[in-house]
Amino acid sequence: MKVLVTGGLGYIGSHTVVELLNDNYEVVVIDNLYNSNIGVVDKIKTITGKEFGFYQEDVCNLEALEKIFSENKIDAVIHFAGYKAVGESVKKPIMYYENNIVSTLHLCQKMIEHGCMNLIFSSSATVYGDPERLPITEDCRVGGTTNPYGTSKLMIEQMLKDIVVANPDFHVIALRYFNPIGAHTSGLIGEVPNGIPNNLMPYIVRVASGELEILSIFGDDYDTPDGTGVRDYIHVVDLAKGHLKALEKITNFNGMHFYNLGTGVGYSVLDLVKAFERVNGVKVPYKIVERRPGDIASCYSDPSLAYKDLDWKAEYGLDEMMRDSYNFILKYNDK
Ligand code: NAD
Ligand code: UD1
Repeated sequence: MKVLVTGGLGYIGSHTVVELLNDNYEVVVIDNLYNSNIGVVDKIKTITGKEFGFYQEDVCNLEALEKIFSENKIDAVIHFAGYKAVGESVKKPIMYYENNIVSTLHLCQKMIEHGCMNLIFSSSATVYGDPERLPITEDCRVGGTTNPYGTSKLMIEQMLKDIVVANPDFHVIALRYFNPIGAHTSGLIGEVPNGIPNNLMPYIVRVASGELEILSIFGDDYDTPDGTGVRDYIHVVDLAKGHLKALEKITNFNGMHFYNLGTGVGYSVLDLVKAFERVNGVKVPYKIVERRPGDIASCYSDPSLAYKDLDWKAEYGLDEMMRDSYNFILKYNDK
């Protein structure tokens, strides 16, 4: 089976390409290197000892897609390519809507033209907005997104539903990721540092490695066990494996399906800091500051539908996530 992976050199994409190659899939990657670098190609080859096709192209570019689908008999596509920085999306909504939406539309157009009818789409827990209830099940209300990034995911889910109605043979699985962290145990691939991080885990590792002075914890007065925000952190390798399970099942499904990919366990900001310090034997100085606008108190999944339908569940625990996140950044800084 030949799989096209868009954004396959990025954080989640690169880990998924590793799992695909390890499982003997043929893989073709398209990535324009907007948020990744060409060195990841060799790192994936080193980890797996396998070859794969790579096109340095933009998924929005119809001609590039035509070339890829003409040169390869693609059976399924995993669509990771997109922009993902929440704050930047508020400042550059046109850029975000254009890239995330046009890439998906053009991809679907070329897939259907070439008879490639299986698509796995990277969605996000952000589509649930302020969740209706906890833990979040797939039938919880979606909407109430507070930024163009989140809204682009919601719009794409709706677009895909409409495309499936018009093309009943087109199979789509939207995977709604909770909070991916961690890295491959080799330390060769992971979330590459890019400016001052907005997300918690990249910030913690940079404080621990001495690149940043102190972690600001955004509020300790939420209605949570210790007052700090609670999230469902999931190891990126577990997340990557979820895509392989979805690939195995997708042709059995009709229409469009949605699955939460999370562990089902919520940890607070302080839980993470303490676990990181314990596992890695380093200090993470922190101070409590004001709440971050737009943040919610708690967000964690009920992942049981993915277990029932896809036979997938997360295997790694918090300690492995802490260990692998730090291992990657130490190796990255050392190179
Ligand atoms: P990433 O930025 O590390 O990877 C995205 C990759 O896509 C990058 O390599 C980038 O160069 C490439 N890309 C972007 N636009 C492109 C285009 N038009 N053409 C070709 N390549 C393009 O992001 P990630 O963390 O690996 O996320 C992958 C997907 O998962 C994204 O769609 C993201 O929105 C979604 N997601 C991520 C998270 C998260 O916390 N990381 C959570 C939920 C959903
Ligand atoms: C962020 C995105 C969300 C995306 C998700 C996936 C925002 C507003 N939302 O959500 O769209 O789907 O990542 O990974 O960016 N925190 C601190 N100090 C920090 C950073 C974070 O205390 O320096 C806290 C936050 O208040 C929150 C928790 O850590 O309680 C997790 O934050 P973050 O990693 O940014 O993830 P999300 O807020 O879940």
